[in-house]
Amino acid sequence: MKTIFSGIQPTAIFTLGNYMGAIKNWSALQDEYKCVYSIVDMHAITVKQDPVKLRAQTLNSYALTMACGIDVEKSVLFVQSHNKNHAEMNWILSCSTQFGELSRMTQFKDKSQKHPDDINAGLFTYPVLMAGDILLYQADLVPIGIDQKQHLELARNVAERFNFRYGDFFTIPEPFIGESGAKIMSLGDPEKKMSKSDDNPNASVYILESKDDIVRKFKRAVTDSESSVRFAEEKPGISNLMTIYGVCTGKTMSEIEAEFAGKGYGDFKLAVGETVADTLAPVRDEYARLTANKDYLLGCMKNGAEAALKISDKTLKKAYKKVGFIV
Ligand code: TYM
Repeated sequence: MKTIFSGIQPTAIFTLGNYMGAIKNWSALQDEYKCVYSIVDMHAITVKQDPVKLRAQTLNSYALTMACGIDVEKSVLFVQSHNKNHAEMNWILSCSTQFGELSRMTQFKDKSQKHPDDINAGLFTYPVLMAGDILLYQADLVPIGIDQKQHLELARNVAERFNFRYGDFFTIPEPFIGESGAKIMSLGDPEKKMSKSDDNPNASVYILESKDDIVRKFKRAVTDSESSVRFAEEKPGISNLMTIYGVCTGKTMSEIEAEFAGKGYGDFKLAVGETVADTLAPVRDEYARLTANKDYLLGCMKNGAEAALKISDKTLKKAYKKVGFIV
């Protein structure tokens, strides 16, 4: 059975982008693959976090991932900092990563621009930590949205370099990018991806929001001044809404065009908002049920960490041997 690894940062309630670009695929893969998923709190501290909020948000993110369909009986779901092997593998791989390749990471450039007062070393070496996350489990496939593709390519390069230096060892991971929904755009600016950390609260839909709030955000979504519902490069706002509607309903872009032919943007936006809210309603209910039982969640977290440690211990030990450490 092939192995899957993926992770998500617990910096805020997940957005519709996280859901459609990643987590929806995570749950769909559980029956066919050995899946390992992580709430990556170590990645989160590359940007300043309030420790109290981060702790709460990590537990919430764990529950939210389960509410989105990750079944802890089928998949390993753990918190990254509960497995110290990630920090250790990070060091080993740092020594097979070049300064130049890290300097080319667009997310590093974007984040350093956004946080000019805190361009810390962790922000720079973040993709190495991410490579370690994946390689520790010898993952074959990594379900991600398009924004993480460059980091995955780096992980592949690092793994290949290590294998070249020390002999074949790491599985070279492939990205798994869904056919649609891999880049959900902001509702406030359709040229920008929807992000957890957007300053404009109307730009992102968070998956626990009420139906009213979701519908309101879609009604306000920035579109163009035409009125035909048509998928086209020059209509990024409407095309983004059509993609979202398509992911929820399974309809193709031409089916959506036919459904809304002769109708205005108002009707279309309302339909998208209501469909998204209805799609997310079971997630909200399940989240409420899960968070009512904190002990159960903490128990799942502990089991997940033990399972992750067990798999990754083997890889780390072999990597230590490969580089010449006495083990
Ligand atoms: P993060 O927490 O930013 O996002 C989690 C996942 O959601 C996807 N995503 C999107 N997909 C479509 N449209 C969007 N607007 C959108 N925004 C986010 C991301 O591509 C991602 O798949 N570095 C990673 C977490 C990570 C990881 C890993 C992922 C750490 N280690 C190992 C894979 C494998 C991150 O910050 O994701």
